[in-house]
This record gives sequence, structure tokens and C-alpha cells, in this order.
Amino acid sequence: MTSLIDRRGRTLRDLRISVTDRCNFRCGYCMPADLFGPGHAFLPKDELLTFEEIHRIAGIAVASGVVKLRLTGGEPLLRHGIDNLVGLLASLPGHPDLAITTNGVLLAHHAERLALAGLHRVTVSLDAIDPAVFGKMNGTGADVSRVLSGIEAAKVFGLPVKVNAVVQRGVNDHQILPLIRWARESGVTMRFIEFMDVGETNGWNRASVVSAAEIVEIISREFPLVEVSDRHGATALRYRHQDGNGEIGIIASVTRPFCGDCSRLRLSPEGRLFTCLFAGEGHDLKGLLRGGADDATLAAVLGGIWGDRDDRYSELRDSQSQPTHKAEMSYLGG
Ligand code: GTP
Ligand code: 5AD
Ligand code: SF4
Ligand code: SF4
Repeated sequence: MTSLIDRRGRTLRDLRISVTDRCNFRCGYCMPADLFGPGHAFLPKDELLTFEEIHRIAGIAVASGVVKLRLTGGEPLLRHGIDNLVGLLASLPGHPDLAITTNGVLLAHHAERLALAGLHRVTVSLDAIDPAVFGKMNGTGADVSRVLSGIEAAKVFGLPVKVNAVVQRGVNDHQILPLIRWARESGVTMRFIEFMDVGETNGWNRASVVSAAEIVEIISREFPLVEVSDRHGATALRYRHQDGNGEIGIIASVTRPFCGDCSRLRLSPEGRLFTCLFAGEGHDLKGLLRGGADDATLAAVLGGIWGDRDDRYSELRDSQSQPTHKAEMSYLGG
């Protein structure tokens, strides 16, 4: 198997695949309802990569060293027949780790089929356990109990669950401890994410970022934590509960960036490869695919894109002028 190295010596290991730019939530930090209203133009269906096209690109990525695939969106469970795509990806040679990041509201309905199709694990976004806070944050009033049922269903069908909460000051920082209490009882791994300046629509400002250090301090008031040192290219800083009851993670892209060993490539719904979450433009593969390019050509293009990669946006956040254009999280999948 080949391995690809970028200009900063980082090896390609992960492919994050966004299967749709649509979502049934309107989280303020991602798709604010006033900007993503009923008239918003989403990608037309024929622009989206087909499952066969995604399978083909993923296969080439796996042959180029990728060992981890993650399906994202928008909301990936909105893509009709998503379990068929999971089935195709699960049968790739080498059986890469295969995960999905979902808002969980449709998960109870899909969990069994996803597990049977060969999905390995699920990450569910859950920003609050309090129904009123949750309903407000998701921008649609959706009921937290539906997400909790989705998480239970995933567990019933043998899928390990991680739960992500984006923390915004004054919005849900008071939910950190309630989420931890719930996670310890539910046997899921809880991860907190620093609010990031992704895209151009979420009104990010540094004052609303609750830092990893603050999050650890808040949790430690009730549950003492011990940092686990091995990070190995992962997004999350890991901590274990001193009493032995599980682990938590903190994704601190703002205060403790992790570009140094970032191994992630992103595929957009209409077939563009992005070398960074904060990149403005992607490299079009769909044109090549639909123009009849063979696998060797596609592999060479992918290798060239990774070989040219020099991104480290989060490390440079404070020292550079902002890029003129940044792709939206709902399009690129986080
Ligand atoms: P695991 O494989 O379970 O560790 O998942 P993950 O953390 O790679 O993926 P997940 O979809 O759970 O992402 C969690 C958060 O980390 C999301 O807010 C992502 O947007 C963010 N994230 C993931 N990868 C990157 C990255 O390369 N850079 C930055 N800045 N944020 C990232
Ligand atoms: N900052 C941090 N995390 C975000 N997510 C979406 N938008 C942002 C943002 N601005 C998270 C979602 C999901 C993951 C894919 O990305 O909550 O857990
Ligand atoms: Fe949808 Fe996820 Fe964005 Fe929320 S964070 S609007 S659930 S894509
Ligand atoms: Fe990777 Fe870009 Fe995130 Fe840095 S900011 S960790 S380079 S995706």
C-alpha cells in the first residue's frame, strides 16, 4: 500500500466524506436559520456524487493509505439509502474504520440497518440535555428525547457511541456538567468542542469560545480528571475520570490546535477534495470521474493534491489575515 506525505511531513490517513449539504437542524453555530431559510439553494441532486462514485474515490483513498472513513453532512441520514453506501464502504479491501457523524434525530429509525450494513461506530451531536436549551440550539425545536432514543438504538445494535457538544459561552456552558452526569450513566464517551470560526455565517467571535482549560476546570469541580497523554493525530485531547468511570475528550482547535499531525482529507458532496476544514476551494474530482478518468489517473491526482498540501489554518489563526472565502461546515461536514 502507498502512503502519501504532504509538504509538512503529514501522512494521509483519514477521509471525511460529506454526503449532503442539507440538514433537518439549524444549529446557530453551523446553519443559522435566518441565513439558511426555506429559499436557500442547496446542491441539486445530479450534482451530488452517486454512491458508486463515492465508493470509487474511497477505494482509491484506501489504496493510498487511508485507514479511517467518516460519513458526514449536513445530516448524512437524510441521504436516501445511506445504509447502501455504508455497505459498499464496509466491503473495501483492508476494512477501514467506518464511522458516521449525525445529529441523531433519525438514528433510532436507521441504527439497525446501519449496523447490519457494517458501520463500526457512531458520533452523535448533542449540545444540551435540557430540552429547552436543546430545542433552542438546534433551531427547529426538535425534541432531545428523539436524539436520546437514537443513541439508545445505536447501543442496542452494538454500535459504540461518542457524543459531541459544541460549547458556546452563555448558550450551553451550563450544560457541561449535566451532559457529563448523563454520559457517565449512559456509558457513552462525551466530547466537548471549542466553538470554531468555520464558514462565513455563524457570527463567530473569540469571546464566545469556552476554552479547553475552562471546560476541564468546570468538569473538575464535580469530577476530577487526569489527562491521557497519547494524541497521535487525533482531534481530541483525552482525559479520564479519576474514579475510573470512563473518559472524556476535548476538541480544542482554537486554544490547542492540532494541525501538526493532521491526517485528514475531506470530500464534499459534489466531489471536491479539501485539504483543510478552513480551505476556501476544493479540487474537483467529479469532472474527472464523469469524464472517464481511470483509477490510476484519479490516484495520481489525489497523490498530487496531498503532496502539495501545506494547510495549518488553526495554528495560524491569530497571525494571518483571514482567507477571502471559507467553506461552510454544513457543506464540508466538520
Ligand atoms: P474520532 O475518529 O472519533 O476521533 O472522530 P473525529 O473527532 O475525527 O470526528 P468528529 O466528526 O466527531 O469531529 C469532532 C469535531 O472535530 C467536529 O467539530 C469537527 O469539525 C472537528 N474536527 C474534525 N477534524 C478536524 C480538523 O482536522 N481540524 C479542525 N480544526 N477540526 C476538526
Ligand atoms: N464549531 C465547532 N464545531 C462545530 N460543529 C459544527 N459547527 C461547528 C462550529 N462552528 C460540529 C457539529 C458536529 C461536528 C461534525 O461539527 O456539532 O458535532
Ligand atoms: Fe445540522 Fe450538524 Fe450543522 Fe447542526 S451542526 S445544523 S446538525 S449539520
Ligand atoms: Fe487539519 Fe486544517 Fe484542522 Fe489544521 S485547521 S487540523 S490543517 S483541517
